[in-house]
Amino acid sequence: MHVGTVISTASTPSTEKFHFVLTENGEIKKGQFVAVRSEEGNIIARVADVIRVNPYFERAESVREFERSGKSLTELFPSDRWEYRVGEAVPLGVYNTSGELQRSFVPPSPGEKVFLAGKEELFNFFGFDEHGLFLGEVLHHNVEVKLNLTRLLQKHLAILAMSGAGKSYLTSVLVEELLERKENFGKIGIVLIDTHGEYIGFAEDERYMHNTFVVEGKDFKIGVPSLSPQFFAEFIPQMSAVQRRELTKLLAHLHEERRERPFDLNDLLEMLENDKIIKKSDTRSILYTYLSELNATGLFGYYDNPSLDKLTRPGQLTIIDISDLTSQKEKQIIVSYIGRRLFEARRIERIPPVLFVIEEAHNYAPESVKREAAISRGIIEKIAREGRKFHLSLCLISQRPINLSTTALSQCNTHIILRVTNPYDLEHIGKTSEGITRDVLKTISSLQVGEALVVGEAVNYPLFFKVRKRKSKKTERGISLEEAAKRFMEKLNSISRDAKAFM
Ligand SMILES: Nc1ncnc2c1ncn2[C@@H]1O[C@H](COP(=O)(O)OP(=O)(O)OP(=O)(O)O)[C@@H](O)[C@H]1O
Ligand SMILES: [Mg+2]
Repeated sequence: MHVGTVISTASTPSTEKFHFVLTENGEIKKGQFVAVRSEEGNIIARVADVIRVNPYFERAESVREFERSGKSLTELFPSDRWEYRVGEAVPLGVYNTSGELQRSFVPPSPGEKVFLAGKEELFNFFGFDEHGLFLGEVLHHNVEVKLNLTRLLQKHLAILAMSGAGKSYLTSVLVEELLERKENFGKIGIVLIDTHGEYIGFAEDERYMHNTFVVEGKDFKIGVPSLSPQFFAEFIPQMSAVQRRELTKLLAHLHEERRERPFDLNDLLEMLENDKIIKKSDTRSILYTYLSELNATGLFGYYDNPSLDKLTRPGQLTIIDISDLTSQKEKQIIVSYIGRRLFEARRIERIPPVLFVIEEAHNYAPESVKREAAISRGIIEKIAREGRKFHLSLCLISQRPINLSTTALSQCNTHIILRVTNPYDLEHIGKTSEGITRDVLKTISSLQVGEALVVGEAVNYPLFFKVRKRKSKKTERGISLEEAAKRFMEKLNSISRDAKAFM
């Protein structure tokens, strides 16, 4: 569709910007994409703004003078006819004559016709994949956003936005796509840390229930016999080298004594009480304190629940619903254990490639917090650094990117950003997400719920899109404040009715 013609201004067209006057019926909106030819090929450009101009209204004094005479310019002159709309566009890249995408080094000539970018053109321009994950539609264009699985996930994904902007909604859409994916395009496993029990709707939805497995926090167990000293060091970060060495000896001793019979932390504590191996009594007593604290979490037992084989399967969504736990430490221990199990199992390919989704990631990999209060940070950072080699991918979701480990976040090569208004968060996102210009950053704060920006590995150029409607059932955990107040009043009234009836 022909929408305009390139005009010549004092400083444009240049390689960075050009202006075009819109045709009579040409419709163009800020944020849309246009195409224009140059010697190099077909330039694709983003419309940064649309301006209206009218020479009749250019001079303040003449507009005022006419008004003073009691008449208006519009009555005396055909001023409507002289209103033009001018688009300001930023070239993003050019398809050269052999159809390759490159940076543009030559501006379009004044007089060149400007067209609305075509569907197929945009699909290829952004690097979408016919068999990719369908997450939504390019804003203002009827083009499906289908992101290539490898490009989106292999080098990790971060979903960042303020509370209520639609992070969990988008994550559900992503999960749907992964669950519905055909086997011949590659099906991976998903393990999702669900802090608020928001995803259990998948287990109640006919479409997805067969492939969804929910583990509640209270049933989660860590099998002590399979724990190496390394795990204990992770759960007890404050343990010294000496204490760790002694614990290693003790564990070896218990393994030998028990042979094939399983044991738990109670057995380990009992052995410690009657121990002859550890010479120093203060080492013994401090280890006793540490292990008793771990034991008190109730997370440790004879066997793992779920077992590694149940934890992840191709095309299976495993929801670790820890909404019933209140202790931050317990939640971190669970995340840390799962993370390390997945990492080690992927290294020897015992399990399928996995996407490890962590909601409220800033609570599990916090920045600038002491090691003791960040038990799971180590393994999350390790997966972020090394996971891609073993096809273990992270999806970190956070409404406080400032509080999220920079090591982990900087390894997430694709960022999807929804609405953010806090200036500190915006500034941080501008610094940590590559390819975000000032102009793009400004748009982030004006996004509506469900509108998103994707930048990084998954797309050739930063792109705004509208998240598609989800198909899965939403779990209604929260009710509105009005509803809560009404329900409370009803309860009060019914109590007083019952009391009266009784009297
Ligand atoms: N793309 C969308 N289309 C329609 N409704 C949406 C969309 N995205 C989000 N919503 C609605 O907006 C509300 C908030 O969304 P969601 O729970 O995903 O936000 P969030 O970013 O995860 O918030 P929090 O940080 O509090 O977890 C929900 O009621 C959800 O249904
Ligand atoms: Mg959420």
